[in-house]
Amino acid sequence: MKRVLVTGVRGKTGVPLAELLVARGGVEVLGGSSTPDTVALDGVHPVRFDWDDPAGRPTDGVDAVYLVRPDRPDAPELIGDLLEGLPLDTHVVLLSERDADQVGPDGWALRAERAVRGSGRSWTILRPSWFMQVFTDPRFYRDLVADAGELPFPSGGSSIAWIDARDIAAVAARALLDDGHAGRVHELSGPESLTLPRTAELLGRAVGHPVVHRELTIDDAVAGQDGFDRELSVLTFERVRDGVFAGVTDVVERVTGRAPQTLEAFLDDASTHSSGPLRGEPH
Ligand SMILES: NC(=O)c1ccc[n+]([C@@H]2O[C@H](COP(=O)([O-])OP(=O)(O)OC[C@H]3O[C@@H](n4cnc5c(N)ncnc54)[C@H](OP(=O)(O)O)[C@@H]3O)[C@@H](O)[C@H]2O)c1
Repeated sequence: MKRVLVTGVRGKTGVPLAELLVARGGVEVLGGSSTPDTVALDGVHPVRFDWDDPAGRPTDGVDAVYLVRPDRPDAPELIGDLLEGLPLDTHVVLLSERDADQVGPDGWALRAERAVRGSGRSWTILRPSWFMQVFTDPRFYRDLVADAGELPFPSGGSSIAWIDARDIAAVAARALLDDGHAGRVHELSGPESLTLPRTAELLGRAVGHPVVHRELTIDDAVAGQDGFDRELSVLTFERVRDGVFAGVTDVVERVTGRAPQTLEAFLDDASTHSSGPLRGEPH
């Protein structure tokens, strides 16, 4: 029985990853959350995992850890401290982002990756594009799309190769449990690169009313944010504009043996399953 700690188990990649690991069998899945009582995933043992409170973290006998990078300035140090407390033979899979070499401030994303590479543990780094789940997550675009019929986004005319977080999870599951992933950096994307107007058109079909892409300035897009969050968002949108998230890779298919999900299929799924999270108020 392998013991795997999934940090961020309530998040977009954490949920499908935990489900895949449970389904695979032979894995004890520890689901890390700062509010473990809200974790309700069959077969997952909720554990308290709070970046601000290292006491009591489940580190004993952990064979592999899935690390969702906290998007805060001290992430590199927090990650380094966490890994120091893990057994030396723990395999670490870090969720980073596309072409992290360019992500500031001060090469922040690269420093977070270096904390993993230099930890003395074996590692795999996942560098995904933007997640399709930003369209079904109320913390991102869901309500704007479903209720207001708008996709306000500063793209500068560039495209994004949206990826289904379930495809990231499928790669993560292999990287956590299978041989052949140590020391590898997996740049992950969905199967196609879509402009924002085309993305809005597909969203419109899924919600059953028109959705219009509204091109914003980056300043407008980050209005209301300040400090590190603002700096990170500005840099992210500049990287969108520079086409960093447009590239399509074949890594999901190479690792999992099946093609990644298209945005159209993802939206179909999201609008017809569970509570229909994409369906807003009728227009
Ligand atoms: N989103 C993207 O498109 C994208 C693209 C590339 C890379 N990334 C990277 O991926 C990482 C995760 O980002 P994310 O935006 O996708 O976040 P996420 O994994 O969906 O959520 C992160 C954490 O937010 C907390 N949380 C608070 N309220 C929540 C709620 N209502 N539902 C679920 N979780 C909630 C949870 O931690 P607790 O359980 O402890 O509260 C959760 O683990 C970040 O490092 C980000 O930079 C994201």
